[in-house]
Amino acid sequence: MKRVFSGARPTARQHLGNLLGAIDNYVKLQKEYDCVYCIVDIHALTTLQETDKIQGYIRDLALDWLAAGIDPQKSIVFVQSEVPEVTELHTYLSMLTPLSWLLRVPTFKEKAKAQPDNINYGLVGYPVLQTADIILYKGEVVPVGEDQLPHLELAREITRRFNGLFGDTFPEPKAKLTEFPLIPSLTGTNKMSKSEEGSAIDIAHTAEETTARIMAAVTDPARKFRKDPGHPEVCNIHTLHKYFSASAVSEIGKQCRIAGIGCVDCKKLLAKNMNEALAGIRERRADFAAKPDYVKEVLADGAKRARVIARATMDEVRQKIGLR
Ligand code: TRP
Ligand code: SF4
Repeated sequence: MKRVFSGARPTARQHLGNLLGAIDNYVKLQKEYDCVYCIVDIHALTTLQETDKIQGYIRDLALDWLAAGIDPQKSIVFVQSEVPEVTELHTYLSMLTPLSWLLRVPTFKEKAKAQPDNINYGLVGYPVLQTADIILYKGEVVPVGEDQLPHLELAREITRRFNGLFGDTFPEPKAKLTEFPLIPSLTGTNKMSKSEEGSAIDIAHTAEETTARIMAAVTDPARKFRKDPGHPEVCNIHTLHKYFSASAVSEIGKQCRIAGIGCVDCKKLLAKNMNEALAGIRERRADFAAKPDYVKEVLADGAKRARVIARATMDEVRQKIGLR
């Protein structure tokens, strides 16, 4: 079985956009691949200033994954920093990665712009650490969103260079593009985002919180009064109905246009359907959260299994480089 490797940064709780994009895909891949899923806490340090929050985010992310159906018996689920071999491999890879490759990466340029007072060395090396993540476990298939393609291209180049210099050691990792359905923000603009206040519905929200957030969401600004006809094509609530009220969505659109349905009722229906769709995952999440040491045990076992692979790879790497 080919190995899948993917990682997510523990910088916030996962929301619906993550669930319908990345996580559901992780779950499906378990059938066909040997999967390794990593909570990349070291990567989180490139942007996370409040490091006292990181343990909470790690636990939240693990709970979201487990509740969604990532099976820790089958897949390895672990925390990056618990297998420190990755930092050693990162250092070796950094010696064969031209700085010019890293300065060209679009995510680096964006982050440098977003945090001009904190353009740290780690931020530049972010894709080198990501490469180390993947190849330490000899990952071949890497499910990621489109924004990560430049990182994966770089990972392939670094891997080729290592193999060229020291002999065939690593498979060249390949991106497997995850189709992210566009889950719109509740604030009326763009897509659901963890950084924009009021924009997202988290997996961990209760049904009541979900309803409250939907009721507060922005709709078609042309509908000031109940009698005003609406334009469902500009309304994010309508887009969300496509995912959660598939069989009713065309009727909802029709009724909106002739002011047959008001926004309040339209939102109530969405909240009801969304809460029904999420009930299972939320229940499992609450069950796992209630077992005192469950998450800790899963992550400890994952790290143990990951370490076995990492140690074998590093023995081979040190030999090949000539450090042993
Ligand atoms: N850079 C990825 C992101 O921000 C997270 C990540 C770190 C990752 N290491 C990885 C993804 C290895 C895939 C494989 O989403
Ligand atoms: Fe949006 Fe529904 Fe209101 Fe139409 S009725 S504007 S689709 S919330």
